[in-house]
Amino acid sequence: MQKVFIKSYGCQMNVYDAQRMADALAPDGYVETQDIAEAQLVVLNTCHIREKASDRIYSTLGRIRRMKKARAAEGDAMQVVVAGCVAQAEGKEILRREQAVDLVIGPQNYHRLPELLSRAKHKRVIDTDYATEDKFAHLPDPQADKIRTRGVTAFVTVQEGCDKFCTFCVVPYTRGAENSRPVAAILKEITVLAQAGVREVSLLGQNVNAFHGETDQGGSLALEGLMEEIAQISGIERIRYMTSHPRDMTQALIHAHRDNPCLMPYLHLPVQSGSSRILADMNRQHDRDAYFRIIAQVRALRPDIALSSDFIVGFPGETDQDFRDTMDLVERIGFAQSYSFKYSARPGTPASDLADQVPEAVKDERLQALQALLIAQQTAFNQATVGRRLKVLVEKAGRHDGQMAGKSPYLQAVQIDDATARIGDIVEVDVTGIGSNSLYAREVAPRETGPEPHKMEVHA
Ligand code: SAH
Ligand code: SF4
Ligand code: F3S
Repeated sequence: MQKVFIKSYGCQMNVYDAQRMADALAPDGYVETQDIAEAQLVVLNTCHIREKASDRIYSTLGRIRRMKKARAAEGDAMQVVVAGCVAQAEGKEILRREQAVDLVIGPQNYHRLPELLSRAKHKRVIDTDYATEDKFAHLPDPQADKIRTRGVTAFVTVQEGCDKFCTFCVVPYTRGAENSRPVAAILKEITVLAQAGVREVSLLGQNVNAFHGETDQGGSLALEGLMEEIAQISGIERIRYMTSHPRDMTQALIHAHRDNPCLMPYLHLPVQSGSSRILADMNRQHDRDAYFRIIAQVRALRPDIALSSDFIVGFPGETDQDFRDTMDLVERIGFAQSYSFKYSARPGTPASDLADQVPEAVKDERLQALQALLIAQQTAFNQATVGRRLKVLVEKAGRHDGQMAGKSPYLQAVQIDDATARIGDIVEVDVTGIGSNSLYAREVAPRETGPEPHKMEVHA
């Protein structure tokens, strides 16, 4: 038996990819380990989105090189793989800078991992060409026991790549052109997950609302259509999707937030900036008012929806007034959760060449102000759920004895005291208070239960 240690950085798609890589290696006898010291194979699944994340890889590789040397001295072999978006972006440079790396593999080529690893035993290998065949068609399905260890929620990539070319972003270069998976393949994968106990799926795509998957009949299905089909799969109770682009937020998709009972009332819709001038320079292809209009429509159809966004502060040329526009947009909308970043100039992207880069100190100041506002809004959102009755999907044991932990429809972490519910149950709770990272709640009977065998107890 061989052990593989996989470390993922960056977005949820990398988390999903790591699982698919593990699934691809399983037939060759590889078992996953969380302990790098006992691994014969180490995979760094990297992220290129900001400079810090990307550069840190080389210091991590330095440590791995020393580990590999020490292991070799004891006669133990260790293979080192760099996967993910840094692999795609920097390719050969990684092999040049770090002797310890045996294989550099781009995100479109993970189905070739076993074969490339055996080649890499003789000679260092790089494979960052965009595969012409569909990797998903060649990746094995996960085994039921594997799915169970991963839990009752699962990520499923339905769309990959991006054609939007925001001027700050590397993703179109690291993940390639936008590509949707065929509908039947997605439904099959989710059925396999559901049969092993998965109750919630998060559909992933860099631009997931541009999804248009081919159907067996030769037609095509948009995201809301796909989600209708997924809602029919026995066992699946909750559906989420991320990340969406405002430009692709169609009327039909907005209506799904009212019409699909499995679709959770949560929308991650990055706006990046509240200034129309900056949005134009970012090539986001919409202005500030368009964002307000979308949010108003979504809220009209699904008043309780929790909104979330990504923000970049200090994009080249961002003035105090532009930043005030961002703060103003945040104040007007009110977000339940958000991610905010300082602009990071990325090699090869158009914005990195712009002359008027914003000084680091200004970026720091703006980020602090924005984050303070966003955290206050998040706290207010959580506070507003105190006293409400919510349905929680139980995901794991809680922090303390007798507690179970799960998620609310609004993606809030919930600790349930004196819980009788088990993992996979969807249970009604009364929210009693908020902590720093989660809600506290009490179970209310009767409860809706998970798949067999719990179901039998209720009907007995
Ligand atoms: N596909 C998603 C997310 C892409 S990356 C989307 O289109 O929204 C996730 C987030 O990282 C982005 O939303 C953006 O806020 C941030 N990001 C991307 N490039 C960045 C850069 N060069 N500097 C700082 N933040 C960046
Ligand atoms: Fe990057 Fe823009 Fe594509 Fe999102 S939409 S992945 S930010 S280029
Ligand atoms: Fe990072 Fe690539 Fe995801 S750059 S955010 S791992 S798509």
